[in-house]
Amino acid sequence: MLVRIFKSAEDYSIAAASEIARLIERKPDAVLGLATGTSPLLLYQKLIRLHEEEDLDFSRITTFNLDEYVALPRSHPQSYHSFMTENLFSKINIRPGNIYIPNGTVENIEEQCDWYEEQIKLAGGIDLQILGIGGNGHIAFNEPGASLGSRTRIKTLSEQTRKDNSRFFNTMDEVPKYAITMGIGTIMDCHRLLLMASGKSKAVAMKNTIEGPITAMVPATIVQMHRYAMIYIDEEAAAHLSGEHE
Ligand code: F6R
Repeated sequence: MLVRIFKSAEDYSIAAASEIARLIERKPDAVLGLATGTSPLLLYQKLIRLHEEEDLDFSRITTFNLDEYVALPRSHPQSYHSFMTENLFSKINIRPGNIYIPNGTVENIEEQCDWYEEQIKLAGGIDLQILGIGGNGHIAFNEPGASLGSRTRIKTLSEQTRKDNSRFFNTMDEVPKYAITMGIGTIMDCHRLLLMASGKSKAVAMKNTIEGPITAMVPATIVQMHRYAMIYIDEEAAAHLSGEHE
């Protein structure tokens, strides 16, 4: 596990964008795993800049998003479909047919989850998966207690996560209760992982993730077992680390 501590989210986003640019240059049809939320926002801005100013070509890449709310129409401003369109996809030259985001509005959710796993397999697996982390240590929507071997499935969001995400909705009642999420096993199958976090609110989760024992109660701790996991965090998120890290 490579841990890199940066002055700011701006700095780690530049490093993460270079990592992705190098991957696409080496493998123009790379498969990227993407996340939503605040953590990857600056990274997406850097990728858009690389596309506009340095011709970074996304035309052959395929993307798989980690998760999507259940029962929220794709057109809802807070759906992860809308988030990705607005913050990345509408501003780069990715082919719409190469974009995969779970569909939380289908009737048969279980079938949709199996289909999603199958598409990842058919694409040859995910070369690089971007991850954020919840204050409670969740990755994607794998909340504390999630099975460490889990695959894509429907999960109930914890009250903490619903509270954290309520900032995007008018009332608590509007915050979805369920999501489709890649499982921890799905994430661990990705060739490389890049987990990013910034700010004080992530400091305890990062201490547990990097220095704590591996436990399903802090799902992100499983990345300690991954062969190519990179962790990019800012100084605030690194505040509680006691070991020597770069
Ligand atoms: C989003 C996702 C979540 C977020 C996490 C952190 O696709 O999978 O696990 O990465 O909740 O969210 P932010 O970055 O908003 O603090």
